[in-house]
Amino acid sequence: MTIFASRFLVISMVVAFVSLAGWQADAETNRVKFPENLDQLVHYTTVRRGNVTEHILTTPEAMEAVKKGQPIPNGTHFVLVDYRDGALYRYFVMEKGSGWGADYDDRRRTGDWQFQWFWPDKTINMSENTARCQSCHQGQADSDYLYTGYRIPRFNDTPVE
Ligand code: HEC
Repeated sequence: MTIFASRFLVISMVVAFVSLAGWQADAETNRVKFPENLDQLVHYTTVRRGNVTEHILTTPEAMEAVKKGQPIPNGTHFVLVDYRDGALYRYFVMEKGSGWGADYDDRRRTGDWQFQWFWPDKTINMSENTARCQSCHQGQADSDYLYTGYRIPRFNDTPVE
């Protein structure tokens, strides 16, 4: 290999490494913020699976919109509080914002929703690629990307199970 060719190879490897690292960083943080008003969200349903208990919460305004068949307002949070053996393990958060879907290409996009995983101290799990969240929730495109939204109209003060 000539010196030129080997130098070219090293440079290409550095470029590949830097762009891969850059892509990963982009994939982890996004526009989702942990909700400031967690205690004002309504716990509308509980999902139990083995040692896992999930409390699913959203705003009263979003619940009204779902009941009326209207679009869920921008600024809405849905929070899945995940308990393992009764202890808080993590929070999964979906948040909707005007034009937020444009941050992603069509293959990844989930309407104007973005997704994030928060630990109990409300820091982001930086090793999660939230494309995985989107890819699964894309299957719910007909229900505004929600799995449990259909339970909201049945909510009547006690969480639907
Ligand atoms: C393999 C599929 C899958 C993946 C991946 C996934 N979810 Fe979900 N998500 C579900 C299902 C199914 C539910 C309904 C609750 C249940 O059955 O546990 C749900 C419920 C939710 C809810 C409550 C609102 C709703 O849709 O009912 C939020 C918030 C949520 N997920 C966020 C996330 C976040 C954030 C990630 C990534 C860190 C993620 N999800 C990854 C399948 C998935």
